[in-house]
Amino acid sequence: MRLSLRFILPLILTLSFVAYFTVPLIDKLTLKWFSRDLEIRSSLVANTLSEAVLSTEIQNSAQQKLRLKDLFSRATQDERLFAIAYCGANNSEMIASPQMPTTIRCVTLVQTSELRPKILEFASGPLHVSYALIGSQGSYLILVHDMSFVQRRTADTKNYVFLFFILLALVISVLTVLIAQLSWLGWIKGIRSMLTIHRPDIRNVAPELRPIVREIRTLFRDREHFSRDEAQISWSAQTLRDVLKNDLAGEEVIIVSNREPYIHMHHDNKIEIQSPASGLVTALEPVMRACSGTWVAHGSGTADADVVDSSQIVQVPPENPSYNLKRVWLTKEEELGYYYGFSNEGLWPLCHIAHTRPIFRSDDWKCYLAVNEKFANAVIEECKTEDPVILVQDYHLAMVPRLIKEKLPNATVITFWHIPWPNPEAFGICPWRERILDGLLGSDILGFHTRFHCNNFTDTVDRFLESRIDRDTSTISYNGSKTAVRNYPISIEWPLKDLNKQPTIPLCRLQVCQDNQLPFDAKIGIGVDRLDYTKGILERFYAVERLLEIDSTLLGKLCFVQIGAPSRSSIAEYQNFENIVRKEAARINQKFGSKTYKPITLRVRHHQPFEVTTYFRAADFCFVSSLHDGMNLVAKEFIAARDDNNGVLILSQFAGAAKELVESIVVNPYNIDQCAEAIRLALVMPVPEQVARMKSMRFYIQEYNVFRWAGRMLLDAARMRKRGKFSNPLFPSL
Ligand code: G6P
Repeated sequence: MRLSLRFILPLILTLSFVAYFTVPLIDKLTLKWFSRDLEIRSSLVANTLSEAVLSTEIQNSAQQKLRLKDLFSRATQDERLFAIAYCGANNSEMIASPQMPTTIRCVTLVQTSELRPKILEFASGPLHVSYALIGSQGSYLILVHDMSFVQRRTADTKNYVFLFFILLALVISVLTVLIAQLSWLGWIKGIRSMLTIHRPDIRNVAPELRPIVREIRTLFRDREHFSRDEAQISWSAQTLRDVLKNDLAGEEVIIVSNREPYIHMHHDNKIEIQSPASGLVTALEPVMRACSGTWVAHGSGTADADVVDSSQIVQVPPENPSYNLKRVWLTKEEELGYYYGFSNEGLWPLCHIAHTRPIFRSDDWKCYLAVNEKFANAVIEECKTEDPVILVQDYHLAMVPRLIKEKLPNATVITFWHIPWPNPEAFGICPWRERILDGLLGSDILGFHTRFHCNNFTDTVDRFLESRIDRDTSTISYNGSKTAVRNYPISIEWPLKDLNKQPTIPLCRLQVCQDNQLPFDAKIGIGVDRLDYTKGILERFYAVERLLEIDSTLLGKLCFVQIGAPSRSSIAEYQNFENIVRKEAARINQKFGSKTYKPITLRVRHHQPFEVTTYFRAADFCFVSSLHDGMNLVAKEFIAARDDNNGVLILSQFAGAAKELVESIVVNPYNIDQCAEAIRLALVMPVPEQVARMKSMRFYIQEYNVFRWAGRMLLDAARMRKRGKFSNPLFPSL
């Protein structure tokens, strides 16, 4: 606006200035035109009157003079013709109409040039005086025209000219501003395309902008390179795609994990698709959606084999396919030994300090080795180049990095360990500890959620393997290759998928209350976990029980809903655990419940992510009480679901998430009284405080989302690939 004014005002001033000088010129011109008009008119009038006048001249009687005067008077009734006079030859007496100014007299003609028309100023305005010779004796008529109309017209013209110039100024200004705005938009569009550094074709940019585009793109590429180092990028699916395209030269990403992102199940003669309850899947699925590529995983669904092609691939997500899911088939024995046995009875309890004794069987170990080979081969089968980027996931596949590197030495293998890594003493229990460490050290990058777990791993390697550890750079050199051990705290997609399709918070509450027969004024707590002994589900129930013991006003009001996804149910420890959970919930309900009130609602079944989000939105608080957890994404999902900024998170200090979500109420799940107090605090926390805490955590997760997690690993890998080309010729081992 200010810019427009700055332009319009001077333009109007300039045009007014021009108008000021133009108007006198127009004045002169119009006067000239009107004078000529009047001359023509005068001769016309003279011609018309001449005959009558000449006949009078011949008779020259007094009566005839009177008739002439009368003729003149009638002729001057014309509004413009002011006066007429007759001058006879020899300067005889003037016969004139009544209005003839006395200053105009008959003169003796010496030369006809004396009869040149003139303009005289008179009291009533300017008068145009012209002469017309009649007959051959030198007599003539004087015709006087009133010129005041010229003055009036000139004044009008002046006004019109001024108005015209002002209008012209306005039209020019508006047009100019409009064109400027449009070109400004064009420029902005152009500049935007400049800033879209990876825009494939410069021909899409306006020609005049192309040189600048090239310059700016180069500049930005350099800048972005540095800012990525500074972790200052706002990460999104698009940023991740850009990293792949530019920093990893468009490499196809292959992810390999035990758990698959979509499970096809036969149900009532139909095929249903389940999203498994797995933090790993929650985190990686959006990454794959962003990156495309291939995800290799165990096909565990009853209908999985029915939907794949001859390469065992099915395109997912079902609603909008964007990447390949390649399924690896396992026999019952393989699943038993590798998945239930070594992975979940051995490594899982080994790494989680949850007081469940790990079980290691040689047969399970053999199975584990064989299945790891199967996964590695499936990955290699998918590789189209010699140096692909492969992301190996979790404790099920510890041998895969080494196996891949043996066959594809130029591949970049990034392994992420989603669960905690214990200290060397605890890990030392594993009879095949060196083999597992060796397998993992096939990775170029090995990631954990926290620095603490990185340190535990490095100490374990230090204890059990001959290696060189550089603690400055967190790098382990082993067997001629290097592994960078880094912490990458995992996170979730932001914003949460389909959050905008969720009902409003009050509707979510209504639905949850209706579905679970909760009183509508209930104080709702929520827990969402696989039924796993590491999650602290019992401790949560005990905290609810304790609170109801000490605060009877909450009886009939406090309702805790526990969603428990059945998990690893073939393992005795898990079966026992589920039984205990059911029993304890029933006991507490028995103790405090009534016909219409149940303090604990246990929902043991699979819930789809959309359903879980509805529960998060309905809750007054969410309780995450893991006894030991790598990260715990339930805590982050609860926060992401609360776009109303309400609700309180109670979080175990033994979950990796507690290092990041410091605005939650952090508890020790083993301290039941403290947990009961945490629930009480959550219930009485004033809304402004809830909002402040929630906002802060939401901001954090928005920034530190899963795209940053994946992006940081991929950028580190890209940097490694670049530097790998420049080994030190004097110290090749450095
Ligand atoms: C943990 C593991 C994941 C696993 C998930 C679910 O989060 O780190 O690898 O997928 O539990 O367990 P499940 O055995 O059902 O895959």
